[in-house]
Amino acid sequence: MQRLPLIFLATAAFCLLLGTGLGIGMGIAHDFRFSPVHAHLNLLGWTSLALMGLTYAVYPALGQNRLAAIAQFTLSGVSALLFPVGIAISIDTGNPGFAIATSLAWFAGVALFLARIVLLALRPDAAAPRRRASDRMLHVPAE
Ligand code: HEM
Repeated sequence: MQRLPLIFLATAAFCLLLGTGLGIGMGIAHDFRFSPVHAHLNLLGWTSLALMGLTYAVYPALGQNRLAAIAQFTLSGVSALLFPVGIAISIDTGNPGFAIATSLAWFAGVALFLARIVLLALRPDAAAPRRRASDRMLHVPAE
């Protein structure tokens, strides 16, 4: 799963585009009803997904179990996009059902992310972060 960090980062940047676009739209329209949608697109979508992607980049061993890595991306990436939709529906119609369902999917993704990091931390051999390219070129031995 070498591309997983980039897939996380591309999804995060897409959320940033949507989130900041909504922020600009709210400012232009002077209508701030949907600011929780904007905040969650930016904070779950951009910030959290980007941090998850960077974690997969720093610890490539996290991507070795393809099934677990894909499950975690699916839960986190999809719910980072759908939970803000649920918040918008809730604000617009007063029905929080979709927001509740998608927030639980997000929570499951975070729990899986935590479990995978803890399991990796218990494996001292796999916990070493990726070596810097400059170290590899200078033949600096791994710690
Ligand atoms: C082009 C960039 C952005 C624009 C134009 C923008 C615009 C706005 C606007 C108009 C509000 C509503 C303020 C109000 O309710 O009085 C807001 C709230 C907020 N924004 Fe942004 N924003 C931008 C980027 C970001 C980013 C990158 C983040 C986080 C990573 C962020 C996080 C928040 C948060 C947490 C709130 C408060 C939401 C709430 O109180 O419900 N914003 N922003």
